[in-house]
Amino acid sequence: MKKLFLPLILIIVVLPFTTLFSGCNVSGFFTTYEDDPVYESPIAQDAAAAKGGADGADASPGATTFKQVCATCHQAKGQGVPGTYPPLAGSALARNADATKPIRIVLHGFQGQIERNGKTYNGVMAAWSQLTDQEIAEVLSYVRSSWGNSAAAVTPDEVKAVRDQTSGRSSAYTEAELN
Ligand code: HEC
Repeated sequence: MKKLFLPLILIIVVLPFTTLFSGCNVSGFFTTYEDDPVYESPIAQDAAAAKGGADGADASPGATTFKQVCATCHQAKGQGVPGTYPPLAGSALARNADATKPIRIVLHGFQGQIERNGKTYNGVMAAWSQLTDQEIAEVLSYVRSSWGNSAAAVTPDEVKAVRDQTSGRSSAYTEAELN
């Protein structure tokens, strides 16, 4: 009987205490949800979603126009579709110091054979002149400052000036014309 005493004490006294202190992660007992590194409050998630989408995406007006218009082809992160839609991330034309080049592309379209990152493209991008000067300025400012691009923002006045200067144009630009 004496030999059983120590193991019994261990089981009856020590075991419940160790489980209690080591494994206990019950809300409201020793820890709260806020202390839990994995738990995410639904309230905080709602706030993040309201701010910029659940994936943390930019909610600027340019980002919205990009998502609605350009991302269909150029994809959500501007990575394009190899061989079909060229990437805007890293695009020399999109990031051009001469902002009139991407403005002309959006206003009148772009066509002809081009080579980007070792891939050949020979598609036609339609004109998006139905977008307002403001929308084009915002979407190009977004493209020029996203996914590693860092070119100056575009203003609605710049878009208006190009629209006025190129109003007689009815065909898409080719790469040769923009170089
Ligand atoms: C229906 C598909 C489509 C949509 C929508 C579209 N594009 Fe394009 N875009 C193209 C294609 C195709 C090309 C390449 C044309 C070629 O092969 O010469 C292109 C080329 C470009 C280029 C030149 C890229 C480079 O490096 O040569 C820019 C800049 C551009 N698009 C911006 C935009 C912006 C900004 C929008 C949204 C307002 C947009 N595109 C919407 C299909 C599209």
